[in-house]
Amino acid sequence: MTAAKDKTILRALAGEVLPVPPVWMMRQAGRYLPEYRATRAKAGDFLSLCYTPELAAEVTLQPIRRYGFDAAILFADILLLPQALGADLWFVTGEGPRLSTITDAAGLAALKGKDDIHEHLAPVYETVKILSGELPAETTLIGFAGAPWTVATYMIAGRGTPDQGPAHAFKAADRASFSALIDLIAEATIEYLSKQVEAGAEVVKLFDSWAGSLKGQDFDDFALAPAKRIITELKARHPGLPVIAFPREAGERYVGFARATGADCVALDNSVSADWAAAKVQVDGCVQGNLNPKLMVTGGQELIDETRRIVKAFSKGPHIFNLGHGITPDADPENVNVMLRAIRG
Ligand code: CP3
Repeated sequence: MTAAKDKTILRALAGEVLPVPPVWMMRQAGRYLPEYRATRAKAGDFLSLCYTPELAAEVTLQPIRRYGFDAAILFADILLLPQALGADLWFVTGEGPRLSTITDAAGLAALKGKDDIHEHLAPVYETVKILSGELPAETTLIGFAGAPWTVATYMIAGRGTPDQGPAHAFKAADRASFSALIDLIAEATIEYLSKQVEAGAEVVKLFDSWAGSLKGQDFDDFALAPAKRIITELKARHPGLPVIAFPREAGERYVGFARATGADCVALDNSVSADWAAAKVQVDGCVQGNLNPKLMVTGGQELIDETRRIVKAFSKGPHIFNLGHGITPDADPENVNVMLRAIRG
């Protein structure tokens, strides 16, 4: 049996430089896989899939069986937490998520407290428990949550937005209420992730998909500070817990992000250059990501060349191979094998 400390993902997160980087993919359980589509059809809709532990565990395991990734990521969604806090949530096929909106202090006051989320989220914890019993001994289980800013953008606008305009407008109109919303999400996220760890998650990841639209002091206050608060408290409760932070499109602000927040690894989107990130970001510890997800659609020699280029650029420091964002539904499952052969030989 593989001892926990021998798992390649945990070794990379601890700062070890491995001859072949461990690999997993954002959205590795998803619509590009026929077996995912079959299980999702059985569940009925996306949220039923998230809240049915046996089926959520099944789709989490599918890409592990097919590809032997070094990590499995819990199948759930960052928007389950706002739902647990009292927001209405539904998904419109072909369009994405919809939530009831929070537009002022009264909307914020109507939300539940940070400790009132667990009954709603119990199926997620059960999924983690099933997975920690069923995963191969060498596979690391990653739990996750959205970072407060990204979750707030959906709670305020009620949907995904290209420029996060409604959240920026709320912040400009009433910074105190906006900060209180960020604080509530941060506190609830600590409780949520803590329960995932108690159920068996070995690593947690914070997805700040819209961090790139926070500039200057706003980045410090609403991306960096909440991440630091969440990571500090989680590590106090669970000594040695590795944390991956993904401040997507943070650009120059990737520099020093791990140091400032206590994250063990930062996930890189595909807008930064790998050579730049190796020099400026990897000096502080493990990095993950950077491959353009479009290459999983187009494949060919360019996919092989880009994969090898990223492996080489990060070969002198701790590195987990991943995409710069989630694999898309139009990706060819065979291209994942092409990528894996380019990494593992
Ligand atoms: O495999 C994994 O990565 C684990 C599961 C996972 C999902 N969503 C499943 C999902 C994770 C980690 C997420 C995170 C998530 N969810 C983020 C942060 C990462 C990112 O992509 O930037 C965000 C912003 C969301 C919110 C969300 N969920 C949106 C905007 C959408 C619609 C867009 C889309 O891809 O359809 C979702 C739906 C969603 N979450 C799907 C999956 C597999 C597709 C749903 C389906 O099966 O129809």
